[in-house]
Amino acid sequence: MRTPLIAANWKMHKDLDGTTSFFKSFLPLAERAAHCEIVICPSFLDVESAVNATRGTRVRIGAQNLYWENEGAFTGEVSGPMIKASGCSHVIVGHSERRRYFGETNETVLKKTIAALDAGLTPIVCLGERQERNVETVLEEQFRCGIAGLSDERFAGIVIGYEPVWAIGDGETATPQVAADAHRLIRAHAKDRFGAEAANNVRIVYGGSVKPGNAKSLMAEPEIDGFLVGGASLDPVSFAALVNL
Ligand code: PGA
Repeated sequence: MRTPLIAANWKMHKDLDGTTSFFKSFLPLAERAAHCEIVICPSFLDVESAVNATRGTRVRIGAQNLYWENEGAFTGEVSGPMIKASGCSHVIVGHSERRRYFGETNETVLKKTIAALDAGLTPIVCLGERQERNVETVLEEQFRCGIAGLSDERFAGIVIGYEPVWAIGDGETATPQVAADAHRLIRAHAKDRFGAEAANNVRIVYGGSVKPGNAKSLMAEPEIDGFLVGGASLDPVSFAALVNL
């Protein structure tokens, strides 16, 4: 049995006040959500207040990015050990916005994934095609040039995020069928490279316009092990609806 993971990707939203008021409303609403793991990824600046606000609760905090060196002259970057020391347990790696606007490639995604694992963080490694018709080729290439480079041991420590770029934000929503087919493809690549047991154990979460209105039917697909949620995670009531499914 794979425990569902519901992760919030706040992207470049919310300052300190917004973070504080989110947790004030969200935490009481999420108290009974014991069936899933909950991870919230605020901006780096709000990690500390998020960690403090969630101390003693089941909610975990993650970062949205990291650099693969531990320290050094890399202006503006933040390392895995720094993120770990700040109280985070997770980090998003290779989000499509980072690939698109900040030049991340399958190779840098692999380096970041390894750095995250070495720092004791759980990376949520994102894959996904820009155009629906390219799904098979893109997922094959992203898997082969990224995740497939991990050792068996490291692979056991990751979560995979399938996020079709065309469905992110205001895009169309992937139907449960389309999302589940893509998850099956990714799991088949995982099986080829890492074996049946490892493929069966890895969690693959779906991201792309997940909302309280479509989450139930997506989650009904046995292939979908949770969500990576952007827009609908900013509001405490709608994110609480997702963790309370
Ligand atoms: P969305 O974003 O839920 O707003 O589509 C998902 C993501 O980009 O992680």
